[in-house]
Amino acid sequence: MNWIFKRARQFYRAMKADISIEDEKYLMAHLNAEEQKLFMQMGLIDQFHSLNVAYTIERLIIQGKQGVDREFLIRCALLHDIGKINFRATVWDKVFAVLVTTFFPWLADRLELRGNRSIYIYRNHAELGGQKLQKMGLFQEAKIIARHHSPPRDDDPRELKLLRLADEEN
Ligand SMILES: [Fe+2]
Ligand SMILES: [Fe+2]
Repeated sequence: MNWIFKRARQFYRAMKADISIEDEKYLMAHLNAEEQKLFMQMGLIDQFHSLNVAYTIERLIIQGKQGVDREFLIRCALLHDIGKINFRATVWDKVFAVLVTTFFPWLADRLELRGNRSIYIYRNHAELGGQKLQKMGLFQEAKIIARHHSPPRDDDPRELKLLRLADEEN
C-alpha cells in the first residue's frame, strides 16, 4: 500500500515537472557539455526526477557527512536513468510498464519477449545506461549506474547505496 502512495505522489510531481533556470545552472555546474547533451535527450519527467535525485543526494551527504566523492555521486545521480533516453512512450505506457514490472513480472517477461519496447527499456534501463556511459569513457559512473536496480548486496559501494536511497525517495 505504501508503494502505491509513493508512486502516486511521484506521478503527481512528475505531471508538474518543470526545469527552472536554477536547475539549468546546476546542470552546467556538474555536467560537461557532452553529458549535458545526453541529459537533455531524456524526457522532461526523467530530467526532473534525476535532478531531484541529485538534490536528495546532496542532502544525504550533508546529513551523514558521508566519505564519498560528491561530484562523482552527483554526476551518477544526474545520469542514472540515461538508459531511458529512448523510452519515448506516453505517460500511460510508462505507468503500465512500471505496474506490470512490479506486480506481474511473469507478464512483463512475456511482453518483453514479444518485443514490447516500453517494457524492455524500462526493465533494462540500468544496464542500457551503463553501456551508454561506458562508450563515453565514464567507466566508474557506468559501473554504479548499471547496478542501480540490481538486488542490494553487502559489498555494494557506498555510492551505489546512496544512489538507490535517493532514487527511492524520488
Ligand atoms: Fe532507474
Ligand atoms: Fe531513477
